[in-house]
Amino acid sequence: MNSLANKSLVSINDFTQEEIERLLDTASLFESNPPGKILDNKVVAALFFEPSTRTRLSFESAVKRLGGKIIGFAEAGSSSVSKGESLKDTILTVSNYSDLIVMRHSIEGSARYASEVSPVPVINAGDGANQHPTQTMLDLYSIRKTQGTLDGLNIFMVGDLKYGRTVHSLLMALSNYNTTFNFVSPSELRMPDEYKLILEKRGIKYYEHDDFTDIISRADIVYMTRVQKERFSDPLEYEKVKNIYVLHNETLENTKENLRILHPLPRVNEIDRDVDDNPKAYYFEQALNGVFVRQAIIASILDVI
Ligand code: CP
Repeated sequence: MNSLANKSLVSINDFTQEEIERLLDTASLFESNPPGKILDNKVVAALFFEPSTRTRLSFESAVKRLGGKIIGFAEAGSSSVSKGESLKDTILTVSNYSDLIVMRHSIEGSARYASEVSPVPVINAGDGANQHPTQTMLDLYSIRKTQGTLDGLNIFMVGDLKYGRTVHSLLMALSNYNTTFNFVSPSELRMPDEYKLILEKRGIKYYEHDDFTDIISRADIVYMTRVQKERFSDPLEYEKVKNIYVLHNETLENTKENLRILHPLPRVNEIDRDVDDNPKAYYFEQALNGVFVRQAIIASILDVI
């Protein structure tokens, strides 16, 4: 029995720990043993109201490699939303043409709303500063693949912890494991209280820092994030913090052998290009893992495995 059949994925909390681990196992199987054209006759709609490279194209690659068809748009301006059509009307219309909707939107809660009005399942590809659950799945996959476990790890999250939806989703998922978190951010971009409260309720240890150069030797994973210009209403506030953390190759000199540097990408300046050739840099492999993980999610929701 596939408990994910026909289910929407809006928040990482929509899936149980067992479901998440089963998905990671399926992704691993798909990576080592590509399953062929299991999405034959299936149509996936990708509605991207906000820009994307990795999420949109890895969904597209995932669907096509499984023999399915993908339709949609890459910017709201090329849809009838630009003529004033509502999100509900858009979803009801597109659900006539597809078996599954993948949606990215700037408004927090828009994916939940879409899933409530849609007759077909909806996958949240990022809603404002809220959640990005498929990114979390590929982050978990990348962590498990490089560390051999999700348990007992020391995870550093660095940069924009206030607006960064990827760190919010990842924190929630890793709080089911015996994780130690180190949050590194300027005071303006601290991890919001609601997420720290979740950790406190679950008895998970976390520490907050202004810098990480002296403590990075303890890390198993350093999860770098971009300071997101598009989330700031005041450009001067963005200017103050935009280059506050830059990871250089020399910073990695006395770090653990198993350390891996993750970043959801795109990066701006927060990881210097001199890190790219370091074996501890894992962000481009991480982006590749998105294809296997998204294949597993789509195949499970469309119940073709
Ligand atoms: N990681 C991520 O969401 O990248 P894109 O914005 O390019 O999709």
